[in-house]
Amino acid sequence: MTITTAFTELIGCRLPIQQAGMGAASTPELAAAVSNAGGLGMLTATSDDLSADIDATVRAVSGRPFGVNFLMPFFDRALLDAVAPRVPLVEWYWSQPDPVLINVAHDAGALAAWQVGSVDEALAAVDAGCDLIVAQGIEAGGHVRGTIGVLPLLDAVLDAVDVPVVAAGGIGTARGLAAVLAAGASAARIGTRFVATLESGAHPTYKQALVAAEAADTVVTETYSVWWSDATHRAHRVLRSAVEAAEALHDEFVGDVSGDGEPFPIPRFAVRPPNRGTRGRIDTMALYAGQSVGAVRAIVPAAEVVRELAEGAETLLRGVESATKPSA
Ligand SMILES: Cc1cc2nc3c(=O)[nH]c(=O)nc-3n(C[C@H](O)[C@H](O)[C@H](O)COP(=O)(O)O)c2cc1C
Repeated sequence: MTITTAFTELIGCRLPIQQAGMGAASTPELAAAVSNAGGLGMLTATSDDLSADIDATVRAVSGRPFGVNFLMPFFDRALLDAVAPRVPLVEWYWSQPDPVLINVAHDAGALAAWQVGSVDEALAAVDAGCDLIVAQGIEAGGHVRGTIGVLPLLDAVLDAVDVPVVAAGGIGTARGLAAVLAAGASAARIGTRFVATLESGAHPTYKQALVAAEAADTVVTETYSVWWSDATHRAHRVLRSAVEAAEALHDEFVGDVSGDGEPFPIPRFAVRPPNRGTRGRIDTMALYAGQSVGAVRAIVPAAEVVRELAEGAETLLRGVESATKPSA
C-alpha cells in the first residue's frame, strides 16, 4: 500500500512513517525493516560502528532510503563528513539548527532534517536550510526539548513553515497517525513502538517493561543525566518505575555494558538506555518511553508495526473523507 504525502515524495518512500533514531535500539536490522516495509528507517550516530551499520543497512534495503540521526551532545564533526556522502538523509537533534552542518549534508547530496521542540526552533531550522523538520511534542519518549503537546505544536509549526513537517511524540496507533496526517503533518515519527520490536537492540527486560506499561506510567524528569553534557536542558521522558527503582538504590554503579572492548560500568542515573549487551539492574536504567507506550502490547516485527499503523490510518482517513464530503 501507499500513502502519498510531501514527506513520501521528498524522501522517496511509500509510507509517511519515520522510525526515530534511538541510540542502541536503532540497529541496522530495525532501520532496514522499517525502510523495507515502506517507511523511513534511521540509524544513530551514537553507534559503536556507524560505518559498519551503514554498510549493513545499504545491503539490506536495496536502494530504499534511510537516514542517520546525530544527537548533538555526542556530535562528532568528522563522523558527519564521513557519513553524509553515504546516506540519503542526515538529521540532528538537541541544539539550535546550524546552517554550516546542513550545508555539509547538502554538499554531499543528502537531505537535511532537524527535530525541534518549538516554533522558534522550527523557523531557525528552515532558515538554516532544512528540507524537512520534525516537531516533537512533550508526549515523546527520550529527551524532550519543548514543553507543549504535539497537536498544538504541529498546528503552530504548520502555520509558520512551508517545508514538510513530521509530527513526533506519543504517536503509537493508527488513530494517532491518522490524526496528525489529517492535521497537516506529512508523516509521523515513531520511537517507543519501534523500541518494542524484534529488530530493536534494546534489552529484552526493557522491551517487556514497555509491554507492561500504560500511557500514564511515564514521567518527564531530569533523573538520567549522568554522561549528558548539556547542563541547561536535560528533560527526558522515561518509565516512572525506572526512576523509582533507581532512587531506591544507593549503589554507584547499576551494571555494565560490553561493546567491542572490555565491559565498562554504568553509573546509577546514566543517560544510556540498556541494550542487548547490558547487564545488571536493567529496571533502574533509563527506560525511555513516550505516552505512546500504552500501544505496545507485544514484541513484534517492525514491519508489523508499520503495516498496522499505515493500514489503519488509511482506513480512518478514507472514513473521514467520505464523512466530510458535501452531499450532492
Ligand atoms: C529509547 C529512545 C531513544 C531516543 N534517542 C533519540 C536520539 O538519539 N535522537 C533523537 O533525535 N531522538 C531520540 N529519541 C526521541 C525520538 O526522536 C522521538 O521524538 C520520540 O521517540 C517520539 O515519541 P514516541 O517515543 O512516543 O514515539 C529517543 C526516543 C526513545 C524512546
